[in-house]
Order: sequence, then C-alpha cells, then structure tokens
Amino acid sequence: MKVAVIGVGHVGLVTAATLAYFGHDVVGHDEDDAKIDSLKRGVAPFYEPGLQELLDQVVDSGKLSFTGDPAQAIRGANCAFVCVGTPARADGEANLLAVENAAWAVARNATGEIVVIQKSTVPVSTADRLRSIFAKATTHRVRLVSSPEFLREGTAVEDSLKPDRILVGSDDPQAHKVMKELYAPVLGGDCRYFEVDIHTAELAKHACNAFLALKISFANALARVCEASGADVVSVADIMGSDPRIGRDFLNAGLGYGGYCFPKDLLAFKAVAGRLGYDFGLLEEVMKINRGALDSTVRKIKDALWNVESKRILLLGLSFKPGTDDVRESPALNLAKALTAAGAVVVGHDPQANAAAQHDLPGLKVVDDPYEGADGAHCIVICTDWPEFRDLDLVRLKGIVTLPIIVDGRNVLDAGAVAEAGFSYIPTGRPPSNL
Ligand code: UDX
Repeated sequence: MKVAVIGVGHVGLVTAATLAYFGHDVVGHDEDDAKIDSLKRGVAPFYEPGLQELLDQVVDSGKLSFTGDPAQAIRGANCAFVCVGTPARADGEANLLAVENAAWAVARNATGEIVVIQKSTVPVSTADRLRSIFAKATTHRVRLVSSPEFLREGTAVEDSLKPDRILVGSDDPQAHKVMKELYAPVLGGDCRYFEVDIHTAELAKHACNAFLALKISFANALARVCEASGADVVSVADIMGSDPRIGRDFLNAGLGYGGYCFPKDLLAFKAVAGRLGYDFGLLEEVMKINRGALDSTVRKIKDALWNVESKRILLLGLSFKPGTDDVRESPALNLAKALTAAGAVVVGHDPQANAAAQHDLPGLKVVDDPYEGADGAHCIVICTDWPEFRDLDLVRLKGIVTLPIIVDGRNVLDAGAVAEAGFSYIPTGRPPSNL
C-alpha cells in the first residue's frame, strides 16, 4: 500500500519505518527542514534504540523516503497518517493547529480515495472537525480513522514492531479493512485489534495516559507518607503490585513523571472533560502530586546541605526517562532550574541527553564523565534511572566528592552499598541511611 506519514517526530518516524518494514511504500513528510535533511542523509534526528538500524534497512530497500513537500508525500497515497505534535496551550487545551494544517494538506493534495489515520493524541471529538474540513476541501472520498499510538520512548521500535494492541476507531467498515491490511504482519498472536467508534478511540488514549500518570502519582503520594512514617515505598509497591488487579508497573515513586506526553495529555484531558461539563478534579490532584514529588526532592537536598548557595550539585540523568535523549518536561531539568535559582552550582551528566539538555538550559554545565562531574561535588542526585548508574564505582566517587551525600530520586542504588562506601544516602519514600 502507498502510505504518507505527515510529521516524522517520535511517533511519525517510528510508524513510517515500521510500515515500510511491513512492506508498504512509505513517504514521510515534515515541515522541519533540518529533520528532513538529516533523514535524507540517512541519519535519525533523535536517539531511539534500534531506530537507526531499522531506518538503514528500510531506506536502503527503497520502501521509505522523505520529503519536505507535503504534496509529494500525499500524491497517489492510499493512506495518510497524521502524526504531528499537539502541544498544550496556556489554558491546558491541546493546540490542534498542526492537526488542522495536516488535514488541509491531505485534502488539497489527495489524488484519489484516501484513508486518513489520526495518530496524534487529540481530544475526543477532533474527528468531527476533521470531517468537516474534508467535506469542504476535497471531492475525493476520505475515510477517517482514529488510531492512537501507544509506543513508549526508549522502546518505541520494539513497541511498534511488536505492538500489544492496535486501536482503530472508525465508523467506516472499509477503513477497518484497510487498517487490517496495513497491520496484517502483526495481527493475530498476542496483538489485540480493537475495532471501536472514532470517539471511543480518541478518548481511550487520554484515558490510558491519565491512568498511568495516576498510578505514578499514587506511588509518589505514598512515598510522602512512607517518609513520614519510616515505611518503605518500594516494598509497599511490591506488595500492591503482586495483586494482579493492581499490577507493579508504574508504581515507582521518584522525581515524578515528565516527557512530551503525560504533562500535556493530563492538561488536555482535564480541559476537554471540563468543556464537556465534567470537572475531572482527580486529574488536577494527579498533577499536584507530581509537582510535589519534585518539590520534595528539592527540600531533601536543601535539608542535607543546609545552605545550597555555591554548593556543587551533580545531577545524574537529564532525560525525562532512560533510553532516550528527550528532555522535554524532564523532571531533572526542572530540578536543575530550581537548584540554580536557589544559588547552587549545578552540573549535569546523561548518557545520551547532554546535548539536548545544554540546548534547553544553556546555563547548565554538562559533563561526559560522571566522575568529572562528581569532582568536588557537595551532593549527587540521581534523576533518571539509567541502568549505568547502578554500576557507579561508589568508592571512587567517595574519594573525589567534597561532601558524601547521594539523593536518589529514582531509588536505583543499594542502600547498604552506598552506606558502606561512606555516603549519606537519601532515597525516595524509603528510610535514609548514614545521615
Ligand atoms: C507514555 C505512554 O507510556 C505511552 O503509552 C504513550 O504512547 C506516550 O506516553 P513515554 O512518554 O515514552 O510514554 O514514557 P513512559 O515510559 O510512560 O514514562 C513517562 C514518565 O513517567 C517518565 O518521566 C518516567 O520516568 C515516569 N515514571 C514511569 C515514573 O516516574 N514512575 C513509574 O513507575 C513509571
């Protein structure tokens, strides 16, 4: 099948590469010239495990190409995937201008019947707006689908090649037929195909992300109570998680959630519910607890250091989660801002995200080597649970820091080993040691 993918960010590029891998002829379009230039040179514009290798394979085989011209991507396509960004407006509502522009581009450039698949996360009822654009702007038949994407950064390629579910919302039986053909290589087996109406699909994506954020905030609220009572939040989460009705995933307390999706999706879901007449106050509480998780870490650092002014603080991990160089809405960068505002000298290290962090926070000093960052530090804070931080040489670190304090914002280290190396250890929602 001939497929156009409008918007080749995280979702779009992985979708385009996956569909090409499945054997379809895919053309990716983006209005960001730098991104298209990079892709034309064969270079993935962001870090995502396995993506570069997949791109090499499908670009070499001629199944995937890129263009800065939307007409070129859409001309002759049987399907167009809309994968553009939906950032938050100041009032929390999703900004859908890029979605609207993509719809106009498809409508103006379609050369025949086309299935338009809305993959960007959008508020429920966006499909009605899109339908009215297609009714006005093209005489070709447009079959509209909402097929939200569930891939996670860091495991996006694996999630996309072996999805656990394909969600397809459409009121058009022919559109479902086309979607099943597109995804034929993964259907059956463990992958469930959900065939629903378009509004259910739109809403389900917001519901999933909001519920995952709710689980994280529940764990963070528990962490505060554990800290006040001397209980251990990791053990509580393990006990809760052993109940299959609850599940252990997304119960890790820490600095809170970040990234491109959860913060904006929670705001947008709350806003759309409000517009529809329901005050989803629970979501407000989830966001408040998330802000509180960061504030609590700032307080722990200040308590440990007494005065933070001029103290050197090393932040380990700058991306919003491991396995990515994405620093959008990263709790680590928010922590860097708070500590810098309080007068500390903040140094950061990340296995992948140093350049992105430096770009977003030009005042932040970043180092390629964690030991260089620790030299003379008064406090080390673990902000992102990259696996390499578990293997740090604690004895070597102890020899080079000015004050031996580790604040573990992701509970990655072994309390006994940290104390044995001579550090004061302040984890999250667990008893501190060696203070
Ligand atoms: C999320 C959804 O998981 C995915 O299905 C959707 O398509 C896009 O949004 P992503 O933003 O890549 O994916 O990250 P995710 O793995 O969900 O983590 C989000 C944030 O929550 C990260 O900052 C992570 O560190 C944090 N988190 C996650 C916790 O703080 N505790 C946990 O237990 C789990």
